[in-house]
Parts: sequence; structure tokens; C-alpha cells
Amino acid sequence: MAVKAGIVGAGGMAAYHYDGFTRAGAVVAAIADMNTGRAESFAKTRPVGNIFEDLSGMLRALPDLDAVSVVTPNKFHKPLVIEALEAGRHVFCEKPPALNAGEMEQMLAASKKAGRILMFDFNNRARPESMAMMRYIREGAAGKINSAQANWVRRAGIPGFGGWFTTKALSGGGPVIDLPHMLDLALHFMGYPDPAWCLGGVFYDFMDNRAFKGPWGIPDSDAGITDVESSCHAMVTFKTGQTLMVRCSWAEFVERETVAVSFQGTKAGGKVERLFGIDGIDATSIDSCRLFTEEYGNQVNRDIVTEKDETMGRVGQAANFIETITGSAPALNTPEEALILMKIVDAMYQSAASGKPVQIG
Ligand SMILES: NC(=O)c1ccc[n+]([C@@H]2O[C@H](COP(=O)([O-])OP(=O)(O)OC[C@H]3O[C@@H](n4cnc5c(N)ncnc54)[C@H](O)[C@@H]3O)[C@@H](O)[C@H]2O)c1
Repeated sequence: MAVKAGIVGAGGMAAYHYDGFTRAGAVVAAIADMNTGRAESFAKTRPVGNIFEDLSGMLRALPDLDAVSVVTPNKFHKPLVIEALEAGRHVFCEKPPALNAGEMEQMLAASKKAGRILMFDFNNRARPESMAMMRYIREGAAGKINSAQANWVRRAGIPGFGGWFTTKALSGGGPVIDLPHMLDLALHFMGYPDPAWCLGGVFYDFMDNRAFKGPWGIPDSDAGITDVESSCHAMVTFKTGQTLMVRCSWAEFVERETVAVSFQGTKAGGKVERLFGIDGIDATSIDSCRLFTEEYGNQVNRDIVTEKDETMGRVGQAANFIETITGSAPALNTPEEALILMKIVDAMYQSAASGKPVQIG
């Protein structure tokens, strides 16, 4: 029997969930949005049997629903995830997992108690480049990874002024929490080690300058709030002795938008990188996946050639959630990893606020 799934939140990301779920053989039986007009518009592009105003209505009406995906603004992740888990459903939730580590702890406890799968949309792990690099790392080609650098930096990419992304109470913060993908990917490559210390700073420049708005995102709201950071630079150390530098920004003076993880191992270094084009993903964008090593006294660079995936792994990660439920593939991410990630996010904000290194418990 096909897995039966429902989606909560009919915004920009919902289509990727739908496409991934159906690619893996699931049936998307319902979509819910508090703005039912958005759910109705979605249903015109992709067939969904039922439209609801909220998750509770969906769960009541469809007792045979196996899985729910949560694609709402970040503040609603925790309550919706916990409601779906307590109702016995498997849950796939958009990133960031939660507003903070405390919320994530409650979500992890709820998934354990319910005995249901909880996964997140860390879609960059499912990119062909990342999957290929992870294979090399798992097979030992990089040796022990000592250090890594995680960068998601934008020159002008504020996703709307005054909307939920820029309102801390709804989003939890700016790029630190909105762009956790490269932090997650670096941790994935490093073996998700236990963090020890974090030292970092955040900046608020350009958050009142509409010349720094991205070419996408959600509409501006003049009456709305803009109280989140525009960039963050931090260092994290781990109990294993590994180290990680993290940079993320919506707006700062960099040459072009860069999304990359590089690392240095005892047998090879590596880099997975996307240099965005002038209009985002276009003919001028460059993707690369490379290993840097030494062979027979020669310094050797290897280009790993992979297929293009313009969804940046979003469809693949959603498909992997369904494959995890059916047991046809291992989970690409776990809620225990999400908790480590959220502890680092919390520590980045705490260190920035105090100006001091923060010990991560
Ligand atoms: N993985 C990625 O690459 C990626 C990219 C962009 C956004 N996201 C994440 O996806 C999530 C949604 O972002 P988006 O860009 O689709 O936002 P959006 O604002 O376009 O859509 C969110 C939708 O959720 C609805 N909604 C809000 N609260 C609700 C509730 N309690 N019940 C039902 N519906 C509710 C809203 O009416 C809206 O239609 C966020 O967590 C965001 O961080 C992920």
C-alpha cells in the first residue's frame, strides 16, 4: 500500500515536498493552509484530494494518513510537528528544525514516545554533489577530517522586509537560522561530532536598505517587523578536536552568492560548491565537487562529475523521507543530528550577544 501523506503550508516549498513524495510512490491526499486560497491555488497545479484550513482538521478527517509534512513559517514547526507525532503520524519538517534547541528537544522526545519517524528538509545533503562526496568520505578517501568551512553568503539576498522571515518572533532569526544548510552539510561530512565551544558575532547592516532584497522570497510588508541579523561569522570546536568555521549572510559585500563546504582531511581535502549566477540559478552559475590530494609525490586535484539538480536536493530529500518510511533507503538525517545543529545555532546567537566563547553542553 502506498504511503498516504498530507502537507501543511501551501507556500513556496510545498511543491518540492509533493514532487518528492510522489516520486517515491506516495499519494499526497491533502493540503492544509490557514489561507485556504493558497491551498486551492496549489491544488490547481498538483492533484490533492482534500483541502483543509489546519492540521487538526486534516488529522480528524483522514485517520488513514501515514505521514505529514510541515512547510510553515518556523514558529509553527514545533507545535505542528508534535501534534502530528502525537496523532501517530511520521513527520517531515522544513528547515530550520525549530526556533531553538529547547524546542528541538521536545520534538525529539515526542518522536521517540510516538515511535514515529521525524526527519527534516536538509535538502543539500541530497544534492548529487553532496551524495557523491559523502561516498568518498565514507569509503575513507579523505581520511580523518580535521577542519571544515561552511559558507552560505549572499551579497543582496534579504528574503523580504517586514514578512515572517525578518520577524524574529516568527523566524527565530536571520541567516543563522534561515541558512543552516552548509553548517548541516559540514557536520554531515565531519560525522556530526559533539560540539564543544562556539565563538561568533552577528551584524545587522543593510536590514533597512531595500537595495539588498533578494530577487525571490516573500512580499515586503511595510507594517511588518525587521529585527533579525544580516550576517554571522563564527567558529565551532568539537570534543573530537575537529574545528569548523561558519559564515552565513543575507547581505554583505561579497563577490557573489556562494554556497559551499570545504574540508581538510588527513588523506584529502574537498569542496562542494555552488557559485550562484547573476539571477540566481542561471547559465552563469557554477557547480563543483572536488577532491584535493597527493599521489606518488604529485599534488592531484580530482573533479567529481555529477548530474545537475536544479532543486538543490529538495525533491530527493522529500523522496528519502518516504523511502525511510517504507524501509527502502536509510534516513538521510536524524532528529538527534537536528538537536546538535540547533545547539550550535543557539550558541552562535549566545556568543554574539555576550561577546564571549560559549560552551555547548
Ligand atoms: N529547504 C529550503 O531550501 C527552503 C527554502 C525556503 C523556505 N524553506 C522553509 O520552508 C518553510 C516555509 O517557507 P515558505 O517559503 O514556503 O513560506 P511561505 O510564507 O511561502 O508559506 C508558508 C505557508 O504556510 C501557511 N501557514 C502558516 N501557518 C500555518 C499553520 N499554522 N497552519 C497551516 N498553514 C499555515 C501560510 O498561510 C503560507 O501559505 C519555512 O520553514 C522556511 O524556512 C526551506
